[in-house]
Amino acid sequence: MPFEMTGVLVTKSKINNNYFILDIKTQYKLNSHLGKPGQFYEIQMPDFPNKLRIPISIFKIEKDTISFMIKIAGQGTDYLSKLENGVKINILGPLGNEFSIPETKQSILLISGGIGYAPLFFFKNHFNLSNSVWMHGGRNSEEVFNCDLVYTDDGSEGIKGYVTEGLEEYLDSHLVERIYTCGPKIMMKRICEIAYKHQIKVEASLEEYMACGMGVCYGCVVKIKNDQDFQYKTVCKDGPIFLGEEVIWDE
Ligand code: FES
Repeated sequence: MPFEMTGVLVTKSKINNNYFILDIKTQYKLNSHLGKPGQFYEIQMPDFPNKLRIPISIFKIEKDTISFMIKIAGQGTDYLSKLENGVKINILGPLGNEFSIPETKQSILLISGGIGYAPLFFFKNHFNLSNSVWMHGGRNSEEVFNCDLVYTDDGSEGIKGYVTEGLEEYLDSHLVERIYTCGPKIMMKRICEIAYKHQIKVEASLEEYMACGMGVCYGCVVKIKNDQDFQYKTVCKDGPIFLGEEVIWDE
């Protein structure tokens, strides 16, 4: 059940010019209360004029502290990047569904792009996955983070090229049973096409503009296949995790 709480910003860490991490200390001690991999919170910006909330995936939970990795991508996230330690922040969550629990013997690939890194970081650490390989892609060295295989469009770090090209190459010589992914829609669509040829199940964490974050406004609907044709589902409540084969990516 989601709940609203006020935490205190205890640390703000700059990763680079585009990304930062907020550590928010709460009054709750149990990890399971605060969220599962794939879930997100709606963060309210203190003293921001319209009390706007921004949906942000959980990056890390340690005891009573929850961390969010955030990309500066507009007025709201820029505002969050300028908060000072000690400020009180109202957060609402955990929201949305969660990634499935990986089977211990399954060979697993994690594939992220850009800020899609955050939920997969939580996923990998939460389940302490040793049988996984993590690929991450970004435009340049400012958009990539620590993982097993890094891809940049401009070759400024890791392997030059798209992470989806890396996936095709990887699958030529490795058996993979499940892919967990989060990132730009175009990247996840391509991952699903490639995975489909290899009969690999994909769990994709979708990103959509969200207003309420609780399944009320229907501002975040996507088309999901069903037996007849398709139905609309909300990314914030029914998702954000969907099976890749169910998503109608072109809409
Ligand atoms: Fe309102 Fe999803 S954001 S229904």
